[in-house]
Amino acid sequence: MDKILVHGGHKLSGNVRISGSKNSALPILAATLLTKEPCVISNVPDLSDIHFMLQILSHLGASVERASGTVRVEAVKIKSEAPYDIVRKMRASVCVLGPLLGRKKKAIVSLPGGCVIGDRPIDLHIRGFEALGATSVIEHGNVKLSARTLRGSEMNLRGKNGPTVLGTDNVMMAATLAKGVTVIEGAAAEPEVVDLANFLNKMGAKIEGAGTRRITIEGVKELHGAEHSVIPDRIEAGTYLVAGAMMGTEVKLQRVKPEHLASVITHVRESGYEVETAASSVTVRGNGNPKPLRLTTEPYPGFPTDMQAQMCALLCRTIGISVISETIFPQRYMHVSELKRMGADISLDGHTAIIKGVKKLSGAPVMASDLRASAALVLAGLQADGVTEVNRVYHIDRGYESIDEKLNALGARIERVKV
Ligand code: EPU
Repeated sequence: MDKILVHGGHKLSGNVRISGSKNSALPILAATLLTKEPCVISNVPDLSDIHFMLQILSHLGASVERASGTVRVEAVKIKSEAPYDIVRKMRASVCVLGPLLGRKKKAIVSLPGGCVIGDRPIDLHIRGFEALGATSVIEHGNVKLSARTLRGSEMNLRGKNGPTVLGTDNVMMAATLAKGVTVIEGAAAEPEVVDLANFLNKMGAKIEGAGTRRITIEGVKELHGAEHSVIPDRIEAGTYLVAGAMMGTEVKLQRVKPEHLASVITHVRESGYEVETAASSVTVRGNGNPKPLRLTTEPYPGFPTDMQAQMCALLCRTIGISVISETIFPQRYMHVSELKRMGADISLDGHTAIIKGVKKLSGAPVMASDLRASAALVLAGLQADGVTEVNRVYHIDRGYESIDEKLNALGARIERVKV
């Protein structure tokens, strides 16, 4: 198991190239199961979560070839049961449910277990599948879906914490091959949902309204092969934006879609940092006198929950009192106790974090607990005195391509140590 040593206090400057989006690539790769014909997906990031998804596709019977950032999948004949051993490693494995149900009218996938960021139910996915005419049972730890025919219908997929991203993806994928028209109200509007819809439309699906709260899908008989390039990862970009704000003289993020980062950019600007956007780049400049913030995580286009931990790391050293409210995953504060061990002054009150900015953080051995919490600890290490040892680095490798190399190229001093 690798660990990362962050030597704090080094200024960052220069350009960083943002990778393809993990959360777009995962459902898009799953969607290739909807056709017998080959699909070619480019700008796929090199991450352990992507490797798990490719293993699942192979296990299901697809032939998978990967050359650098391009993946070719040909799913001529597939099985409808995904193996527990691989599925359990990644919650996003549930996004093969929709394609399997759409194509095979049957899917057996291990039910995702608990997760450190909070309860991760799939009741809304099931609600959508049942609205399409599927029956579902949970047996021996698996979700089993089956249908004689899938029929388009109207449904609302909004839950108590808002819309569901993978639930919207899953139902949208299954509905492409249903008879008739499906209308998803309360749909997630994240850019990753739009990217998936664009790919499905290239495959011959008839989807309208992706990116709004109402998506309409007119079922088709079959889908064909297609090529697609995955959108840039807005959360990876946001993470480097925060790093640049913290430690940057000037850091430029390249190959991004600034419009996908609008809410993050607004908050970073509100904190006093200078952020400049161009067609496919964002430049951030450090500031000696940042201001505290109030922010609430919300579904897109609101401030993303996947950037909450990183902002928390930034605000730890912003003098004044900042308040963060987490409304999507109310318990997603695993980073807080580790940041406190580095000297941060944070108190939690339910789903709210109250952060009193401190003058300095000091390096310490810390434990990564989930992907974004781990990124926050690396960011905290950049601005801490001495060395921060981030253990359980496999969490970071799930979602950040070569984070140590990218930060070092900007001037950080990070070592990866094999333990
Ligand atoms: N929810 C339900 N029932 C469901 C599904 C979700 O109550 O059936 C609740 C969740 O518990 C949560 C809220 O709805 O309170 C939103 O969850 P959502 O379903 O949107 O999350 P997800 O689709 O499982 C994706 C990303 C997450 C990201 C969330 C929210 C992928 C692979 N994962 O998860 O990304 O935090 O949307 O934007 O796309 C990450 O990349 O670190 C990560 C966790």
